[in-house]
Amino acid sequence: MMQKIMQSKISVSDLNFFYGKTQALHGVSLEIPAREVIAFIGPSGCGKSTFLRTLNRMNDLIPAARAEGRVTIDGQNVYAPETDVAALRRKVGMVFQKSNPFPKSIYENVAYGIRINRIHANKADLSDRVEKALRDAALWNEVKDRLNSSAFSLSGGQQQRLCIARALAVKPEIVLMDEPASALDPIATQKIEELIVELKREYTIVVVTHNMQQATRVSDKTAFFMLGKLIEYNRTQKMFTNPDEKLTEDYITGRFG
Ligand SMILES: Nc1ncnc2c1ncn2[C@@H]1O[C@H](COP(=O)(O)OP(=O)(O)O)[C@@H](O)[C@H]1O
Ligand SMILES: [Mg+2]
Repeated sequence: MMQKIMQSKISVSDLNFFYGKTQALHGVSLEIPAREVIAFIGPSGCGKSTFLRTLNRMNDLIPAARAEGRVTIDGQNVYAPETDVAALRRKVGMVFQKSNPFPKSIYENVAYGIRINRIHANKADLSDRVEKALRDAALWNEVKDRLNSSAFSLSGGQQQRLCIARALAVKPEIVLMDEPASALDPIATQKIEELIVELKREYTIVVVTHNMQQATRVSDKTAFFMLGKLIEYNRTQKMFTNPDEKLTEDYITGRFG
């Protein structure tokens, strides 16, 4: 009988990454299943952002940067020469630490990606898609009466949710978030965390955080990096109660930062 093999959404095998001669990632392998939240933790400079960016080839934009190894998404090799990088980045959206809305209206920020990718059938469909993205980002109720106001009129937390709406508008399957709440106050942070948990019903989420409590609140699995190496990858609950590695235990108990 044929064995049915469960395929990971993202599969990384023996990934090395270099900035010129400096090696930033060393032999990283991990499997990310669909519709889970994966948290990346580890000291500053350990390669979390670098690793995140290898998943949608955002590092391509950095001169002299080079990846070695294998990254597949839905079984497709991300680094194959025939990969359509624009399509990859639609499928694998990204949200950054500092919210970066365009100097446009709230509506146009969300409509932008839909327009340039010609996803919409007509004007009404465009409006429906903008509304859906704003609802999915838990922002609709706060902005529905001021869609034509500047994005900069929003609070920091709202701007970050607008950036999430903008990422969701082009129908990604994976959303990468690099410390999405680290510039926000506790209430805005809580909203983002609730949103992350909500989003995993439809999306696969990879979130970098320097906040270990945040990792425990939002993620199913956690990957702990140190000096460019993946030290441990485990169920979050296990990782924070009974980690397999001594280094993980030292880190989560605050023995080093
Ligand atoms: N654009 C870049 N050019 C050269 N080195 C970089 C660049 N970005 C990051 N690095 C280096 O790669 C290592 C990992 O950085 P990074 O992925 O940003 O870590 P983290 O997100 O965990 O803080 C660090 O030593 C950092 O200095
Ligand atoms: Mg970083």
